Amino acid sequence: MKKLIGCIGLLMVALLGNAQRSITDFNSGWQFVLSNDTTGQQPGLDAGWKSVALPHDWSIELPFSEKAPATNQGGALPGGMGWYSKRFVMPSTAKARQTYIEFDGVYRNSEVWINGRYLGKWPYGYTSFRYDLSPYLNYGPKSNDLVVKVDNSRQPNSRWYTGSGIYRNVRLVTTATTALAYHGVFVTTPVITKQKATVNIAVQVLRNSTQYKNVQVVCYAYDAAGKQVGFASKAAALQDTLNSLEQQLEIQQPRLWSTDKPVVYRLVTKLYWGSTVIDTYTTRFGIRYFDFDAAKGFSLNGKPLKLLGVCMHHDLGALGAAVNRAAINRQLSILKEMGCNAIRTAHNPPAPEFLDACDSMGFLVMDESFDMWKKKKNKFDYYSDFTEWHEKDLMAMVLRDRNHPSVFMWSIGNEIREQFDSSGIKLTRELVNMVKRLDTTRPVTCALSEWDPAKNFIYQSGALDVIGLNYHQEVYKDIPKIYPGRKVLASETMSALASRGHYDMPSDSMRYWPQNKTLKFVDKGNADYTVSAYDHVAAYWGSSHEETWRIVKRYDFIAGLFVWSGFDFLGEPVPYPWPARSSYYGIVDLAGFAKDVYYMYQSEWTNKTVLHLFPHWNWQPGKMVDVWAYYNHADEVELYLNGESLGKRQKNADSFHVMWRVAYEPGSLMAVSRKNGKEIARKIIKTAGQPHRIILQADKKIFHAGGEDLAFVTATVVDKEGNTVPFASNKITFYIKGGGEIRAVDNGNPAGLEPLKGNKISAYKGLALAIAATGTKKGRLHIEAVSEGLVLGVTVVEVR
Ligand code: GAL
Repeated sequence: MKKLIGCIGLLMVALLGNAQRSITDFNSGWQFVLSNDTTGQQPGLDAGWKSVALPHDWSIELPFSEKAPATNQGGALPGGMGWYSKRFVMPSTAKARQTYIEFDGVYRNSEVWINGRYLGKWPYGYTSFRYDLSPYLNYGPKSNDLVVKVDNSRQPNSRWYTGSGIYRNVRLVTTATTALAYHGVFVTTPVITKQKATVNIAVQVLRNSTQYKNVQVVCYAYDAAGKQVGFASKAAALQDTLNSLEQQLEIQQPRLWSTDKPVVYRLVTKLYWGSTVIDTYTTRFGIRYFDFDAAKGFSLNGKPLKLLGVCMHHDLGALGAAVNRAAINRQLSILKEMGCNAIRTAHNPPAPEFLDACDSMGFLVMDESFDMWKKKKNKFDYYSDFTEWHEKDLMAMVLRDRNHPSVFMWSIGNEIREQFDSSGIKLTRELVNMVKRLDTTRPVTCALSEWDPAKNFIYQSGALDVIGLNYHQEVYKDIPKIYPGRKVLASETMSALASRGHYDMPSDSMRYWPQNKTLKFVDKGNADYTVSAYDHVAAYWGSSHEETWRIVKRYDFIAGLFVWSGFDFLGEPVPYPWPARSSYYGIVDLAGFAKDVYYMYQSEWTNKTVLHLFPHWNWQPGKMVDVWAYYNHADEVELYLNGESLGKRQKNADSFHVMWRVAYEPGSLMAVSRKNGKEIARKIIKTAGQPHRIILQADKKIFHAGGEDLAFVTATVVDKEGNTVPFASNKITFYIKGGGEIRAVDNGNPAGLEPLKGNKISAYKGLALAIAATGTKKGRLHIEAVSEGLVLGVTVVEVR
């Protein structure tokens, strides 16, 4: 049966007025097929297409497979070749205008056709790009066919899970023939005092016609409350094509952007032709200044601030790579609660929505471009595109992201192989210069794995503003001697490993994985692919969390650190082979459940009162169990087993936890923290009985009816008394009533092979997660979790 592509969801693009810029969300009404048929760009293909909404990641919808060419390092999910098509109608009024299609990111090797005309390719999967459709569009009743081919079939091409498809947002933008260029507004704040901030606005105007010669560029600045706080205007006689114009405005008593108070302003730039507004463009910006000092470290707005960062890959767990604001916000809220103030986008530029959220929530971002240059790390990775594309990709990152107040550094790469030979010198200088041509307000770094300056050619280029050091915590104390006068931060640290809720004794000796000859470690690991969650397991190039944090905390000359990693991510399941398919590195697991060490950071990085007691209390009688507590705001913790004191413990300068070795007996374990004898906090853990019922809890009570919002619903399996059952692995099915749909499930098990798409999953160590799209219908949604032999769990949320 022949089927015309794109015929479902035919869309008439509505334009805003005649002259103004119109931005149309172009995510709906797409058809998709997974096919190696290279004639897919011809409308009229065979059946097999299905309707999809973007952002879309086809890999996450497929089953985990040992045979996936990406291997388990890439998440053990299939890649392949996919085709997208969309049919739409343009109004005849658009004929005299410019129409562009903007892609925030397509993984990878995308090629685009409009009405059979080839527009071009874009190999890198993480940068944004656009095409001018204007010359090839049909206007009026005749429709247009847009076709996108995505080729992620050559694998492995990454060291982590990438996702496949048009996994970020797409927009159709229509402007007058003269308009602000793509990423054509650059806002900086060269002078900041208590009294005023000077805001510099560099604008690029693209003139595509002989019309609109004399224009006026008018800028209005607004504060967060919407009050106008600044104004500037400049007349210009435009040349053909690209015109660069600059002007300044002043904001009195500026409110500074910081990680505690992320104050954001808005700049509205209007292009006037006579009294007609021909373009309007809004840019969010912030007013802040910062400094790196070789001796004193980092400061923000004149105040010292240790960078308490984590590295994050771009996947959103069970949602794969498909971008979603609610999922990003959830990740960032969990990290914010922990005290994290900085993110390194490992090892590629993130989605724009991620940076918007960092602007609003107060995270400093190290925006990173590449994991490799000309020398590959995987057979089919970006190395083969590097020579032709790196300048375009680097420019795409800087031009797109340089107005975000959160973005404070550019990283030109991670553990780049060229650090080991002299080709690294020239390339580093070239890349740094490319960045500086577009932005001189942010330092450029590169994350180095070779610490010895004599052996590191990227370092020797002399071009880096800040040295990014990955691992090698043993040399941190000597940084001022090794890199005299240089600014240094720990761009990647720890690589500690843990499965949430699993504990191996004894806990007071380190285990390094994968096994490495020099360390002579002979642990074969666990048959169920678990890694102990006491902070005593790490990759051999890393350390426990405590070890590196202790060093970074001690020395002011280390500006801060970025822990590998904030969340578990799909792929790179060190230390295990298949069926392990996602990482053990996270402080938080893939489902978003905190591992114990989360509370170590919270006790160190926040002012919240913390007392966290672990492990669970279900063991074989007589077993010697190590009991740990993380705490703060107190000078000691006392532990009680069934009412009997097992003694008081105090942290010392070398350790961020206390420990008791306890002969297990069932019952209740209680910790009490005290300061000067006065109780500060108390925690009780009881031996759990058999699974009895499910407690269901959504991350929020009220959801937005915009269609994009997600409810993250945690199912906890508890006994009759309400204690979490730490061994519970009951199979749970989730239902949603009243609208919406269950989109994905997870339990945080890095070696779980149950599908993440759908509505069923087993609990792992007592917990499971459902991710529900709350939809567009206003009202109440009932979410249920059902499992054989258990009392069901119910929660009600509201969509407004
Ligand atoms: C680093 C690398 C990261 C990740 C990590 C795992 O060397 O930069 O991408 O692979 O090791 O320990």
